[in-house]
Amino acid sequence: MQTTQAPTFVSTFEQEVYEGLTAFPKYLSSKYFYDEVGDKLFQDIMAMPEYYLTDYEYHILDENKGEIAQLFRKDGEPFSLFELGAGDGKKTKILLRHFVNQQISFDYRPIDISQNALHQLETSIKKEIPEVEVNTLQGTYFETLRDIGKANGRRKVILFLGSNMGNLLHPQAIEFLKNMRDSISDDDLIFMGLDQKKNPQTVLDAYNDKTGITEAFNKNILTRINKEMGGNFDVDKFLHWEAYDPETGTAKSYLVSKEAQSVQIESLDLNVRLNAWETIHTEISQKYDDTTVEWLANQADLKIVNSFTDDKQWFKNYVFKK
Ligand SMILES: C[S@@+](CC[C@H](N)C(=O)[O-])C[C@H]1O[C@@H](n2cnc3c(N)ncnc32)[C@H](O)[C@@H]1O
Repeated sequence: MQTTQAPTFVSTFEQEVYEGLTAFPKYLSSKYFYDEVGDKLFQDIMAMPEYYLTDYEYHILDENKGEIAQLFRKDGEPFSLFELGAGDGKKTKILLRHFVNQQISFDYRPIDISQNALHQLETSIKKEIPEVEVNTLQGTYFETLRDIGKANGRRKVILFLGSNMGNLLHPQAIEFLKNMRDSISDDDLIFMGLDQKKNPQTVLDAYNDKTGITEAFNKNILTRINKEMGGNFDVDKFLHWEAYDPETGTAKSYLVSKEAQSVQIESLDLNVRLNAWETIHTEISQKYDDTTVEWLANQADLKIVNSFTDDKQWFKNYVFKK
């Protein structure tokens, strides 16, 4: 049994943790992996040989930056480059540098739930590519799309790299794409990187490295609850588990309780009981193919107007329009 009376929440983080840990089966949202520690762990993940996504998208952007620049600049009018879930902007900087070298007129507006990621990104761009005008915005994808919609003046290009949309199940992704559609005009573009279906073992390995970096990243959500809500999770009592269904293309991360245990979360006034081998689902990383992406675009009334991929077709960047 768990405490039944819901307390008042001081943040959405608190509310969603309460909802997820009192549900059956239990879940927590991957958007809460990211604080100072989580941001650094994700950079370590991107540097792992198993995490092919970053290298493949990096090369696609590098190989095609000229053509991408032509698409984005259209008639040479200045545009605003929004980026949802920008992270450390490692791949975006390829485009930013190229645009500056080509004297293309644009401003860059990275958006992220992690204030720490935004601060580091802004500082690094000011140092490495000082010509770029940067305006950061902290918030979730859904919250900030409203602001993008309200921004007037310049043409908009929305970047959504790193297969970030893969964290959303298809119904949520359709909702999200519809919101994106509502926040752009006919001339605007959405440029989205989506990881493709491939050998299931390659996918599993990307989220299940032997060095334990992904495990630490997954467990950081428990550490954050301990730090920010007075929780007493013992992270060693949980196992990081990855599962991939090659039929649906859905990879799922779990934290599995190794024993029956009881966890107290002070600020939620919540006692969480876990049975031995009970799961907390923490992340989905959806893999796509063209048929699925076309279906998603159709559902949201968006058109695919271009795409860029690598030799093995492991990763693909799609360009959508209204
Ligand atoms: C997997 S990382 C990818 C970063 C970058 N796009 C890349 O390709 O390297 C996801 C980033 O999105 C941010 N993020 C995750 N969920 C979010 C959400 N719901 N709203 C806003 N940002 C989010 C995280 O803080 C993190 O910086």
